[in-house]
Amino acid sequence: VSDEEPVSATDIGLHYDERSPIEDVIRDGQIHMWYWYDRDDDAPLGEALDRITRKVTDTLGLRPGERVLDLGCGTGATAVHLASAKGVRVTGVTISAVEARRAAERAAAAGVGRTVDFAQGDYHALDLPDGGFDAVLALESLQNSTDLPRALAECYRMLRPGGRLTIADLCLGEPGDPSRLAAFMSALKLAELPSLSDWLALVRDAGLQVEEYTECGPRVYGMKNRFLSAAMTRRTELAERFGESALAEFSRRNLGFFVPRKDQIGYAIVAARKPY
Ligand SMILES: C[S@@+](CC[C@H](N)C(=O)[O-])C[C@H]1O[C@@H](n2cnc3c(N)ncnc32)[C@H](O)[C@@H]1O
Repeated sequence: VSDEEPVSATDIGLHYDERSPIEDVIRDGQIHMWYWYDRDDDAPLGEALDRITRKVTDTLGLRPGERVLDLGCGTGATAVHLASAKGVRVTGVTISAVEARRAAERAAAAGVGRTVDFAQGDYHALDLPDGGFDAVLALESLQNSTDLPRALAECYRMLRPGGRLTIADLCLGEPGDPSRLAAFMSALKLAELPSLSDWLALVRDAGLQVEEYTECGPRVYGMKNRFLSAAMTRRTELAERFGESALAEFSRRNLGFFVPRKDQIGYAIVAARKPY
């Protein structure tokens, strides 16, 4: 859809190095989408973000002591939540050095520094052992992949037989103006925007068995105006903390995110298993 040059992993890392410090504050470390049932749902932003974390990670069926790989872990809130709430050991990987540092601080502050570790790395080729994980989580991180079959082959390799993978990510929704889609993909640095059926095919082609999937775009991207108003209520605080020009730059970079029609962008959650 986009005619821009494809972006490299280094560009993606810099994108998150720049973007994540403000996002980390606005979303309290949950640098992913939200979930509101409808316009009358008065849940605050923090709860709407928690809903995605819970909804997505519940599909992994984690048990205490299991080893989890959080692929594209952002600033670490999900990894910290899983270690605290489920008693699992988590390795988080992100392409952004800034995020990896912030994530380690968050884990130490939460007292889970011994069961959670973070590293900077590219999920297309990770220096982690074959079969080393019971579960892999990719919460809105594969959206930036420049080679999805390769990233999914890595997931397959690192899972033990019977291990689980959950992907939650943006997907192509209803057909619409391609220029709106191009602005969106450029703002988020997306090389591709698979449809739900494309995501399912990618997961199956990697050798994994799909066990559950859902598409809840209307309650996620469809609620983009709710997110904007929630973020705007903290405008003064954010300007004081980061400065007006940093805030203006942040808004400019995010403009394209809001361009598509609500139904043009879906949200897919796909849970799969590596065969025993
Ligand atoms: C939208 S953020 C989601 C962060 C986190 N999962 C969360 O829910 O808060 C996307 C994440 O994917 C990571 N990412 C993107 N491309 C990557 C790559 N090639 N290798 C590793 N991580 C990558 C980014 O660094 C970032 O942490």
